[in-house]
Order: sequence, then structure tokens, then C-alpha cells
Amino acid sequence: MIKILAIETSCDETAISLLEAEGDLKGEPKFKVIENLISSQIEMHRPFGGVVPNIAKREHIKNLPILLNSLQTKNLKLETVDLIAVTVGPGLEPALWAGINFAEDLAKKHNIPLIGVNHLEGHIYSFLLSQNSINHKLKTINYPAIALLVSGGHTILIKMDSLTKWKKIGETQDDAVGEAFDKVARILDLPYPGGPEIERIAKNSKLKTENYIDFPRPMIHQKNYNFSFSGLKTAVLYYLRDNPKINKADVAASFQKAAIDVLTKKTFRAVEEFNAKSVILAGGVAANYALRENLQNKADENNINFLCPEFEFNTDNASMIGASAYINYLSLKNKKPKKQNMENNVIGKYKMEANSNLNL
Ligand code: KG4
Ligand code: ZN
Repeated sequence: MIKILAIETSCDETAISLLEAEGDLKGEPKFKVIENLISSQIEMHRPFGGVVPNIAKREHIKNLPILLNSLQTKNLKLETVDLIAVTVGPGLEPALWAGINFAEDLAKKHNIPLIGVNHLEGHIYSFLLSQNSINHKLKTINYPAIALLVSGGHTILIKMDSLTKWKKIGETQDDAVGEAFDKVARILDLPYPGGPEIERIAKNSKLKTENYIDFPRPMIHQKNYNFSFSGLKTAVLYYLRDNPKINKADVAASFQKAAIDVLTKKTFRAVEEFNAKSVILAGGVAANYALRENLQNKADENNINFLCPEFEFNTDNASMIGASAYINYLSLKNKKPKKQNMENNVIGKYKMEANSNLNL
């Protein structure tokens, strides 16, 4: 068993976690989250309708020592930590550096190994986390699995042959789906972040599904695994311009359904083509209950497993960074460390092992 201190500052959440990890890649690694601390900056960024990178950086620098302090007053003794993990990208560069500098200082000062983690890998592994139980029974992942990663910055489909062997098979050609939720929310005068707001007001729609506004489902019939969401957002904009008196809840519900239809259709087209045995959902948009439900139903129909993180691990957190670090640590132990392609991890000077299986 090893103890990991993980740090995540890629966007607008300052997050530090302490977790224990055990097991190897032959079985399934197991995690016990001891603390999962998140200091959200949403209120700071809300007046700007999105995240302002330099405000994010300032807040991370302010909040990281506060969170670490609160860990130290609870469970954490730094001399018991075996590994420090930090997100090295993708994300907002000034925000990332706040976390990296902090992690690097800690690692040097206490002589603890440091490992760089790809934020998206963190999201994918978040389904492995479970609060406070190292022996929890995971739903089995049968391979090949198709992973759908949906966040504010990415919409990606991945084919996984094992926990560490995977390949990107498609991604959005323009906006990420979370970004589309955020933009449509702004069009509807709803506060940032828009995803939870759209989901909340969509529930007030009295329309039957068959009477929803017929928004486009971009690329749904194309036989590839790519997505496009900017046309859907524009369609909502024009619809509101032409129908200013429309009930916002009906627009939200119809937009949400269109987005979910495309995500589900493409995911299950991949399931069919690759004869997948499991579907994994991850990223901030995975918090959307309607999306989870739709994928779960479809997985049941296909008699395959559907796995997604517990609710608190959907949006950005540091526990997922710790989980990913452990898996990378296990695979690094098995092979000679190789030079990593850091292009998408924003780090030029930094020589951490950001072992990105995603090759993003
Ligand atoms: O993964 P995440 O926390 O940060 C990024 O790495 O981007 O994802 C944030 C995104 C935002 O676009 C937010 O609006 C969206 O996830 N989101 C949701 C919901 N909760 C968060 N989208 C739809 N429904 C939700 N319930
Ligand atoms: Zn994220």
C-alpha cells in the first residue's frame, strides 16, 4: 500500500487529496480516499461568465497552502507520503503552474518522488475511486471497453483494451459538450457553470419527449466517432431569436436531449463495431443524470456493464489525479522510463514523467 498526496489546479477548482492505493495492474488497483478537499472558485469567476486564467492562478496560490494546512491538522503527516501527484495538463497554463510549482517545492523540501498526471487520464480513472473503502466491489470492467470523456474542454471517445492500453477513436471537431452546455446556459441567461443549470431547469419542462424542439444532432449519422456541438449551440441561439417568448425549460430540455442523443448514438456505434463489453463515462458532464441514465439503459439493453464515477468524482478533483498517478507509477515500474511527449502537457522545462497513455 502506498500513500499519495495529489494536487489538481488545471481550471477553477483548487483540489488536494490524500489517498491510499494498493494492487497491481494484473488485478484491479484499489483506492481509499482519505481526504478529497476542493476549494471552488466558481463565485469568483461567475461575474465574468467563465474562468479567468489569472484570477484562477491567484486563487490557487492562495488556497493551496490553506488546503494543505487543513490536511495537516487532520490526517496528513508529510513524512508518511510515498508519492506526490500533480496535474501537468491539459488546462489553463497559469493555473497549472500554480499547482506544479507548489508540488515541486513540497517534493523537494520533503524528498518525496513527484509524478506528473494528465488531467484527462485522471477523469477516465475516476470510476475506480470510492470514498473510504479499499475493498469496495467495483463493477467489473470487461474489455474492450469504450470510454466517453465529456468535460468543459473535451469530448473524446476512447477504446480501451486494458487499464493502460487504449486508443482515441474520435473527438469533437469544435466545441466540447460541456462548453456547449455552458454557452447555451449563457444564451438562456443562466449563471456559470451552465451544465448543472441546464439540467436543473430542463426538469421543469412539461413537454413530452416527442414534442421537444427539433434541434439538430450534428454528425449523428456519420460513420466516425467525431462530434460537433457548435452548430447545435447556434441553432439554440437562432431559435430563441425567432421565438423570444418560448419557455426556457423547454429549450433546455430539448437541447440537453439533442446533445445526449448524439453522445449515446456514437458511443454505442463504437460498442457495436468493437464488440465492447463495457462503457465508461467520465468528466464533468458525467454528472448529468439524464446522460448517465440514457447510457445505463442502453448498456442494459446491450447486456454490457456501464461504469461511471461516484457523483463527487465527476467534476474536477485531486483524487482522480492520485489514482492516475498510481496507475502510471505501476506501469513505469514495469518498463524503462521513456521520454514523454509533453506537447499537450504544456510543460517545456519540466521533466516529470507525465505518462500519458492517451497520447493527446
Ligand atoms: O471536468 P470538469 O469539471 O472540468 C473540465 O475539465 O472541463 O467539467 C466541467 C464541465 C462544465 O462545462 C460544466 O458545465 C459541465 O462540466 N457540467 C455539466 C453538469 N455538471 C457539470 N454538464 C451537464 N450537466 C451537468 N449536471
Ligand atoms: Zn476536468
